[in-house]
Amino acid sequence: MKGVILAGGLGTRLHPLTKVTNKHLLPIYSKPMIYYPIETLVQGGVKDILLVTGGNSAGDFLRLLGNGKRLGIRSMNYTYQEGEGGIADALFLAQDFADGEKIVVILGDNIFEEDISPFVDSFKKQSRGARLLLKKVPDPERFGVAEVKAGKVTRIVEKPKTPKSDYAVVGLYMYDAQVFDIIRPLRPSGRGELEITDVNNAYLKRDQLEYDILKGFWSDAGTFESLYRAGRLIAEKQSGKP
Ligand code: G1P
Repeated sequence: MKGVILAGGLGTRLHPLTKVTNKHLLPIYSKPMIYYPIETLVQGGVKDILLVTGGNSAGDFLRLLGNGKRLGIRSMNYTYQEGEGGIADALFLAQDFADGEKIVVILGDNIFEEDISPFVDSFKKQSRGARLLLKKVPDPERFGVAEVKAGKVTRIVEKPKTPKSDYAVVGLYMYDAQVFDIIRPLRPSGRGELEITDVNNAYLKRDQLEYDILKGFWSDAGTFESLYRAGRLIAEKQSGKP
């Protein structure tokens, strides 16, 4: 399966850290943020990768990652998102790269402790549709929130004021080739973006949405608090302390 890493955006929640560089180039403990989603994909056996980025620092990714061989990548590909159209807009740029195959999409600021191989394997066996990962969190209002009933996702709401569940939809999504037909007619949300939650709800409507529950540590790193938390976890893991 091929992998797509989304690493665009202005990272305004991290100003002034992101005023002169891309969020995904900031350090998390000992490595640039973008290394972590790459390592997650490579560990999951996903080694043909497209990086979607944007903004003024786009060239720095090429300098940092090169052909990706040092990180275990088989084929490293790059593309450029014009403007700030959101996650689904960025993903649309991966259509030719995907070339009709299933894809694993990861957000460049999502840090996973767990090996994703079992989830990737389940998706390989899934005949069609999409597969999400859910994680219980104390602050679901910051995320896409999935309501689950009798083992099925019944609804996903993007950043609800009063969440009906504490399951965040984490930033790793597995899609079949329908995803591009689903994105094409989407319209921007209130925040002016094509929302990945709308994509996931479209699969739900087709009754083609499966999920797994994530048990290990997971965090985004797009706010000061979460960036700090992610760095602390990595530091603790590397020092062997709990
Ligand atoms: C995005 C998605 C959200 C998801 C989150 C995971 O939010 O819109 O559904 O739960 O990533 O990190 P963002 O942080 O881009 O606002």
